[in-house]
Order: sequence, then C-alpha cells, then structure tokens
Amino acid sequence: MKILVTGGAGFIGSHVVDAYIAAGHEVGVMDNLSTGREENVNQAAKLHRVDVTNRAQVHAAIASFKPEVVNHHAAQSEVPKSVADPGHDALVNVVGGLNVLRACVDEAVRKVIFSSTGGALYGEPDIVPADEDHPVRPLSPYGTSKLAFEHYLGMFDRTFGLRYTTLRYANIYGPRQDFFAEEGRVVAIFASRMIEGKPVTIDGDGNQSRDMLHVGDVAMANLAALETGDGGTFHISSGIPVTINDLFRKIALLTEYKLEPMFGPARKGDVYRIALDNRRAAEQLGWQPRIQLEEGLRLTVDYFRGQISRLHA
Ligand SMILES: NC(=O)c1ccc[n+]([C@@H]2O[C@H](COP(=O)([O-])OP(=O)(O)OC[C@H]3O[C@@H](n4cnc5c(N)ncnc54)[C@H](O)[C@@H]3O)[C@@H](O)[C@H]2O)c1
Repeated sequence: MKILVTGGAGFIGSHVVDAYIAAGHEVGVMDNLSTGREENVNQAAKLHRVDVTNRAQVHAAIASFKPEVVNHHAAQSEVPKSVADPGHDALVNVVGGLNVLRACVDEAVRKVIFSSTGGALYGEPDIVPADEDHPVRPLSPYGTSKLAFEHYLGMFDRTFGLRYTTLRYANIYGPRQDFFAEEGRVVAIFASRMIEGKPVTIDGDGNQSRDMLHVGDVAMANLAALETGDGGTFHISSGIPVTINDLFRKIALLTEYKLEPMFGPARKGDVYRIALDNRRAAEQLGWQPRIQLEEGLRLTVDYFRGQISRLHA
C-alpha cells in the first residue's frame, strides 16, 4: 500500500514510518523539519519537505505521491507553546490539517489516520481509567485544536466519504524523543539527566500520575488502523496510571542514579491523575500494548546512553 506520513521526521511519526516499511508498504514523508530531523527519516521513504500550512505545496505533494492512506502526525505538539501562541497552534493543527484533508479529497485518498491526544482532552477525569466517551473539556489550546480536528474528520467523512480513524494517544515515550525539550517529555528528561548525573527536578509532589506507552506499541496501533477501525476513535494507551515518583525510581535504578529528586512547584493547568481505558482498541483494532513499562524504560535508557556517548565522543 502507498502511505504518506505527515510528521514522519518526528519522534512518533518516524517509528510509524519504520513499521510501515518493515511491513512492506511504500512510504512517503511530508515534514517541514521544524521539530523533526532528517536523520529520523527511514532511507526507504521519500521526504517531501513541505509545510502543511502551505496549501499549494501540500496539494502538489499528495498529487505527485498519490497515497492510498494518509497518516497525519504533523503538528504543533507542545502544550506550553500552544498556551503562548494559540494562533500558531491552530494554524498548524487546524488549518494545516485541513489543507491535508482537502488535498486527500481532491486526490481520492481512501483513508486518513489521525494522531490525537487522550491526555489533553478530558481535563481532570471523573473516572480513571477514562474511556473514549468521557466528557471532553480540554484545558489548553493544543487539546482544543486536536478536538476541533476530530470534528472536521467526521465532517469530511459524512460530506466527502473520506474514511478516517482517530487514535488518541496517552503519554508516549521512547527512542528519538527530544531529550533537550523543556516540557512534558518526562522519561526523556529524567533518563538523559540521570545518565549524566545531573540534578532532576520533579514538578509538584510527584504523586501525580500519567499513562505511559512505549512508541513501539504506538507504531503497531498505526499498522492495525490501516485495515480496521474506520470511523472510530481509540485510546492508544497502557490503561495504567504510574506516578512521576515511581518513574523517577524506575529510571534511577536503570541508570544507577544515586541523587534524591528536587521538588519544584506544581505546573499550572496539569491534570493530577489520568489513565486511558484501551479496551475499545483491543476489541475493534485487535491492538494491545506489548511492551511493559520496565522493558520500555530499559530500551529508552539504552538509546539515550548511546546518544549521549556519541555527543561526548
Ligand atoms: N508525544 C506524545 O506523547 C503525544 C501524545 C499525544 C499526541 N501526540 C501527537 O502525535 C503527533 C507526533 O508527536 P511527536 O511527539 O512525535 O512530536 P514531534 O514534534 O516529534 O513530531 C511532529 C512532526 O511534525 C512536523 N511538523 C510540525 N509542524 C509542521 C508543519 N507546519 N508542516 C509540516 N510538518 C510539521 C515536525 O517537524 C515533526 O517532525 C502529533 O500530532 C502530536 O500532537 C503526541
């Protein structure tokens, strides 16, 4: 199958590209390399260096590659940036996404797979784990732009017959995550700082919990969505809440880190306890997470060790 992955030079998108190529598909990547990197792009994939906010370029790339499926990962993906500049967030995540959808209709693409968020949609959930029917009440422009785009997908399906599957991700971690990022990427930040023996600060008391999923499992969900899940919205998650203090201890063990954590102020607008029920994905996509947290953290620490020793070489 011919598949175009937008954002395929980024952290998650590049793993999705690798999984599609390993499964024998022909893959193109559309990315402006704003946070993605050329070295993340699989050698077997053709890179179209295109900004999704440029309608003409998006259309030309989709018209020339002629994909059967478009997997849409390109996004402004950071909550703090969306708070600082909600207009830019909406420009990339809504207007850019619409340029992709319009070109898909014009070029007779069969289906779009969309990477949405579970973590930024529900606010503080009433029930943990929350399922996909939990009331939505995003706390950030980022959560709101992702939700708006989910509604556009439904509309494009009803009006133009463009099929879609929405995957609402939990907190994803693993190799190629940007460990220089200041915000959000808790595993990448803890692992890289601990490997170098640097102090680690936990925001708040550390008893806040998150649903952590290894990026390899996310890639498998995107593989399943090629053939199943039309018209559906699915949590791609572990279903298990893990506290930040627990993550600290587990990564400290793997990196032989001996320092105690420092505790800073809690971040405004962060949810306290969240996990996402993944039973719908198991039933309808035939997808389940395979990589346990300890194993996923070990793989990730090994990767960052390699990266850091290359940096110092
Ligand atoms: N990382 C997570 O835990 C998480 C959780 C929920 C949802 N998501 C979603 O998954 C997707 C991938 O996230 P990620 O963590 O890999 O982030 P990322 O920043 O590594 O990937 C985003 C990619 O999109 C590209 N991009 C950004 N703006 C673009 C533009 N205007 N035109 C073309 N390309 C553009 C970037 O260069 C990058 O390669 C995003 O849609 C994000 O919202 C991520």
